[in-house]
Amino acid sequence: MVASNHRLRVALIFGGRSGEHDVSVVSARSVAGALDRQRYEVVSMAIDRDGRWADPGTAARVLAESGDRTDQVLAFEGRSKLDPRILEETVDVAFPILHGPFGEDGTIQGLFEMLDLPYVGCDPTASAVCMDKALTKRLLVEAGLKTPAWVEVNRRSWSDTHDDVRARCLDLGLPLFVKPARLGSSVGISRVADSTALGDAIEEALSHGENVVVERGVDAREIEVAVLGNQLPRASVPGEVVPGHEFYDYEDKYLDNTCDLLAPAPLESDEASAARHIALDVYSTLGCAGMARVDLFLERNSGDFWVNEVNTIPGFTSISMYPKLWQLTGLPYSELLDELVRLALERHR
Ligand SMILES: Nc1ncnc2c1ncn2[C@@H]1O[C@H](COP(=O)(O)OP(=O)(O)O)[C@@H](O)[C@H]1O
Ligand SMILES: [Mg+2]
Repeated sequence: MVASNHRLRVALIFGGRSGEHDVSVVSARSVAGALDRQRYEVVSMAIDRDGRWADPGTAARVLAESGDRTDQVLAFEGRSKLDPRILEETVDVAFPILHGPFGEDGTIQGLFEMLDLPYVGCDPTASAVCMDKALTKRLLVEAGLKTPAWVEVNRRSWSDTHDDVRARCLDLGLPLFVKPARLGSSVGISRVADSTALGDAIEEALSHGENVVVERGVDAREIEVAVLGNQLPRASVPGEVVPGHEFYDYEDKYLDNTCDLLAPAPLESDEASAARHIALDVYSTLGCAGMARVDLFLERNSGDFWVNEVNTIPGFTSISMYPKLWQLTGLPYSELLDELVRLALERHR
């Protein structure tokens, strides 16, 4: 498959049918800029918001432009469909930089498996599990890892056993966090500090998907660890997100940039090492490979760590936490990319 004397052809797949389309474009631009051109030939592949694959020329132009969000989107709207089977013939390894549904959830990973194509990141199962906050939590609990107590609600139980569901949620104690089970970017998430707001919060989360997680709110610092590897994964030094809002919501993440990313996180050395160990446990419990960012809560009162969630395709912009943490751990951005490609090929073998 891979001739020794040619550069590896890396398909950089970005955009996609999710709310995180724009950040994906920005991430892909950084990755394209940092992949070593002596070693790799980059084949750009853009997916628009409707799921259409742009032709590679258009995709390359989207990456080459440096305009704002709107430009990026308009640049490849309405393009023709590209048969994704082209991947099989033209590339050696796929590097999906897609967030959320149809990118981070195992669907495109399934396509790569069908094509027998090496790809960066987790396999379909681990991707699907990590995309689903309820499934993730069940597996963590089964493995003895701590995650905030929760109640699962779906459209059916909410309409049929409304009072019972409400009571079980309120038993968790206020404040509560109400989230769509399978989404990212804080979309559809509410913090509920008053029991009268619970119903609306659940309705709002249900409007984004069939299943909802209602979780005990933890008064905590938000600690993130980057994990890298297949059989023998490594954990980075931890970082910390300090939200600029009441919690780390959509505006904070993408619009007004009021949050602070502290890398490394100002932690005691025993706290940092506990965070790294937990992150590695979480990674292997959920069957991750390649990479993932494990997000933890460090509860202020108790000093306990709780696992919040796992992102199998974390942000990859030049200022994103995942590459920043590896940089601090001794792996500069372009070497991190080399390692991710190497891990993809290793796993495929
Ligand atoms: N149980 C919780 N306790 C405290 N804050 C929470 C809790 N759950 C979520 N949050 C806040 O909401 C943000 C987004 O929630 P998260 O579960 O990470 O969803 P997403 O996948 O959208 O990032 C978190 O970064 C945190 O600020
Ligand atoms: Mg999160």
